[in-house]
Amino acid sequence: MTPEIHEIGKNFYLIKSKEKDFHRNIYIKKFVGPHGESINMVMDPGTALDYPSLSKATKELIGGIKNIHIIFLSHQDPDVSSNISPILASAPKAMVFTSIDTWRLVKMYGIPEQRFKPVESFKNDVLKIKRTGTFIQFVPARYCHFRGAYMFYDHESRILFSGDFMAGLNTKKDPGIYANEESWEGISLFHQIYMPTQKALRATVDRIGLLSPPPEVIAPQHGDVVAGEFLAEFLTRLSSLSVGVDLEEGLEAEKESLILALTSFMDMLEMLYPEVHSSLLDTLTHSGDFTTVFDVAGGTIKGVKLIPSSAIHYFWKALAGSSPEETHDELRGMFISSLNSFGLEIPPSLKEEEKKEGSIDLTKMFG
Ligand SMILES: [Fe+2]
Ligand SMILES: [Fe+2]
Repeated sequence: MTPEIHEIGKNFYLIKSKEKDFHRNIYIKKFVGPHGESINMVMDPGTALDYPSLSKATKELIGGIKNIHIIFLSHQDPDVSSNISPILASAPKAMVFTSIDTWRLVKMYGIPEQRFKPVESFKNDVLKIKRTGTFIQFVPARYCHFRGAYMFYDHESRILFSGDFMAGLNTKKDPGIYANEESWEGISLFHQIYMPTQKALRATVDRIGLLSPPPEVIAPQHGDVVAGEFLAEFLTRLSSLSVGVDLEEGLEAEKESLILALTSFMDMLEMLYPEVHSSLLDTLTHSGDFTTVFDVAGGTIKGVKLIPSSAIHYFWKALAGSSPEETHDELRGMFISSLNSFGLEIPPSLKEEEKKEGSIDLTKMFG
């Protein structure tokens, strides 16, 4: 199969893998000197799946894998690094440029130390390629999503290769390589899953803001290439996006509110419907389909194991199963008001039942 190659800047090429939902971008940069001599760099060279297309693309662009001089790795993930052994075997002059933290893991492919150049060893993270007179800059992307993650800024084309930062799942309908508004959904999803915390994203956005001259294109390892109005726009959005542990933390607060709401509801239930209360406690403390959702000790709910909306759904199921049907309307009302008073969102399933029964009442009234 012919690989899809796009020149996205001066001597800067994208080789895009073919997956529909989530693909890899491999990039090649040719640093060309005044007499036509070149230094060839490949960024995040992918996996065994990419080797045939990488081989074809390099043949077309630089005369083959054997002419690769620099393999730059943004970090050590298998989608990024698992091709390096065969590349090093075919390219005798090639060196791996990456961070010390990444190398510690990547060398486990059995790569000798002398083929590694730590990016931290360049003064101010900048390397001048003497043979071609070009500047390249390595830019830390700390914890995006790995401690030792790095990006690479090519001053000549003003393209920033950003690794997993600004990467995305494919949510854009148009098959072109450049991002549009539809790309944001995939970018935000990817960052919510893979990035640890907003702080890390913001620090990386700030680092990018310090680059001079500012980049014109951001080229990530997955998803769409970001340029034009979307570059500043998506950077701004990323710096305030909640991801990873930020989302868990949000959930923790909501779970605490839920436990308080359930405790207050149980107290009320004990007063108004003592029999239902003891039957419900019995249901919640015996194993069954859904009772393990709650940690119950000493007659009190201490913990919730699911996301709050699902836990509420299961609690209602247990309550309805522990009470006579004619009490359901009132119990549901009591339950919803306990949830409301702790600022919890009422899951649609609970609201739906309310509506359904409401319409039955109306039918009864007018029927
Ligand atoms: Fe990764
Ligand atoms: Fe990746």
